Amino acid sequence: MNAPDKVAASPLVSVLVCKTCRADRHDPAQPRPGAVLSAAVAIEAARSANQQRNLSISAVSCLGNCNRGLSAAVAATGSWTYVFGALTVASAADLLAAGELLGNAENGRLPLRGRPDSLKGKMIARIPPLPSKQDDIS
Ligand code: FES
Repeated sequence: MNAPDKVAASPLVSVLVCKTCRADRHDPAQPRPGAVLSAAVAIEAARSANQQRNLSISAVSCLGNCNRGLSAAVAATGSWTYVFGALTVASAADLLAAGELLGNAENGRLPLRGRPDSLKGKMIARIPPLPSKQDDIS
């Protein structure tokens, strides 16, 4: 099966941030950096003038990338999913920009051109879209 060349006109875009990520020298008395990044993404999305209507933000527990710093994923209906690591608490706006870029990508792939510089070289994995019921999965 090949990934679809075209995706829905207005796909649901999801930014999933690991809220349980810690830094190397995390003070347990302080909020986890992953929780700080997760909150920053939600705040940035709420105040963004270019807020996407079909944007979903989720704080999740562990993306299985614990040894590579703060982690988050960007996904969209019918598109590939991109997992990033080595993020910082300042990555919120760039994750949202990547989500918007993916949501607007006609081929369901996050283009390198236009991708925020802070995310370049930090992709851990990309996962193809799930097949739809109509797709041939043989
Ligand atoms: S705790 Fe964040 S990826 Fe595992």
